[in-house]
Amino acid sequence: MCGIIGINSKKPVSASIINSLKKLEYRGYDSAGIATLHAGSINEVKSEGRVDNLEKNSVVQNMVGTIGIGHVRWATHGLPNSINAHPHSSQNVSVVHNGIIENSTLLKKFLVSKGHKFKSQTDTEVIVHLITENLKTENIVNSITKTLKSLHGSFALGIIFKDQPDLIIGARRGSPLAVGYGPNENYLGSDSYALKSMTNKITYLSDGEFCVIKKDHVEFFNEDGIKINKKVLELSSEEEKYDKGDYKHFMAKEIEEQPSTLKNGIKEYVDTSNNDINIFNFPWKTNEISTITLIGCGTAYHSCLMARYWFEELTNLNVNVDIASEFRYRKNRFKKDTLYVFVSQSGETADTYAALSLCKSKEMKTCSVVNVIESSIARDSEFVLPIHCGTEIGVASTKAFLGQILILYLLALKLGFLRKDLKRELFNKKLKDLKELPDLVQQTLLTDNKIQTISKTFNDAKGSMFLGRGFSYPIALEGALKLKELSYIHAEGYPAGEMKHGPLALIEEGMPVVVLAPRDDYYKKTISNMQEVIARGAKVLLITNKSKDEIISENIWETIEVETTNADLLPFLLTVPLQKLAYYSALKKGYDIDKPRNLAKSVTVE
Ligand code: F6R
Repeated sequence: MCGIIGINSKKPVSASIINSLKKLEYRGYDSAGIATLHAGSINEVKSEGRVDNLEKNSVVQNMVGTIGIGHVRWATHGLPNSINAHPHSSQNVSVVHNGIIENSTLLKKFLVSKGHKFKSQTDTEVIVHLITENLKTENIVNSITKTLKSLHGSFALGIIFKDQPDLIIGARRGSPLAVGYGPNENYLGSDSYALKSMTNKITYLSDGEFCVIKKDHVEFFNEDGIKINKKVLELSSEEEKYDKGDYKHFMAKEIEEQPSTLKNGIKEYVDTSNNDINIFNFPWKTNEISTITLIGCGTAYHSCLMARYWFEELTNLNVNVDIASEFRYRKNRFKKDTLYVFVSQSGETADTYAALSLCKSKEMKTCSVVNVIESSIARDSEFVLPIHCGTEIGVASTKAFLGQILILYLLALKLGFLRKDLKRELFNKKLKDLKELPDLVQQTLLTDNKIQTISKTFNDAKGSMFLGRGFSYPIALEGALKLKELSYIHAEGYPAGEMKHGPLALIEEGMPVVVLAPRDDYYKKTISNMQEVIARGAKVLLITNKSKDEIISENIWETIEVETTNADLLPFLLTVPLQKLAYYSALKKGYDIDKPRNLAKSVTVE
């Protein structure tokens, strides 16, 4: 959450900072700001809302400073307004910050007693005044070391100083930060995506480290202020071209890209000539693993829940699924024969990263399923399974969800086969079916017109429910999450069999209820649960797969039939109409689909 950029150059930097902030907007978009240094004074401009507002400001357009920092904010402390926007500055220092300072109230008290005056409601401002205070007695490096030691919580920081025309300091604890190297200029950024338009030479800071960025060189220090050496990584020099094309929104594009997401994933992992799944260099023998624990947040957590059904179906492994923010604070019994799998599109989610760090500190086996391969989670896990779905910009995850569940399905198939839990014949059959999946998803994308009409009923309702059993239950949760995050309609995902244990009381005349009932082993049971909600007045949208057998139920409001395939793969198809339902519902309401209120794409605070 929040995005940081810093540039130390010989040329004016404001235009490049604004461009980078636009790329970072997926990390937070409630306010933006920039500070540059010119002729010994710090010029700061901030605005509420999007980077566009900041860019239009005539002061920004005329900034000539050759060193500067910029920020896009996702508010934690204080309202999302221009006063609380970053940078925060004192007479001497200007700071941008991602993360949360947990002891800010105590520090503020101390600083106020020393005569410091605060302007904002943010936790960040204490950092500005703490550095200013420490600079009274210390040199720059020592004042930074001392300040960082006083801070509790998580941060990535970018700092410039009034009387230092060739210096940006970057510091990291818990929030990602990278340094980039250019000709006669160097950069600081919260991820390589923001830096890639300027350089492909990157160094990632590790927790506890800070850096001193000059125009012609960069130095790194550990938390005690001792100089350290860091590697420079060379990323692919092709900057990924990613725009909306003819689509109105990134989300619409990303939904339509899903057949290629699956095609790419299959191409990367499935060896069609030998009927095998290529998971090279898997560092453990299958007999070293008896349990698999899947961990993620939000949509990625739903991917984990989905995978549980496949691991249980295709292997004899024990399976646990956990929400990262719960896992990291529970009294877990860590076991050597457990493989801990961390699922994350961004690879930067604070809770997932903390859960990974915890497992690493216990010397557990760790594997990650990520989209961003340069991310902290990918870099720190022992083994990485990339999902290869390309940049995902829409805050609501769509193609990354299908990418994650594809890779988890392949892992379940491969482990099942290696462990001999799954016979060769069945393994081959499942791989054969999988090859058809991208085309089936493509055909399912055609259910468009019907969903556009249906979405109106959801918009007019007070709330809605999404029901499913077995393989369809995680998809019901995902459908409800998509609807609530995009169209702000209350939506609950529930296991259909649980309805009569309480939630049935919510059903009233005309309430829209989505029932996922593909023709799998759970079909008849789910249809019975559907009849129970219809009997209580619900308007049921049934989503099932095409079949020659008639649906034996009356008074279904609407039915959508997806294509037919084996039961393992139906969840991929069921997901598509639910993504579209959420999309069209938000579109009709005129909401900002790619940037829903209060959310951000990369959640780097806990
Ligand atoms: C919902 C959504 C979020 C993310 C969650 C985890 O559409 O996108 O729930 O899935 O914040 O993010 P990653 O996958 O980046 O760890």
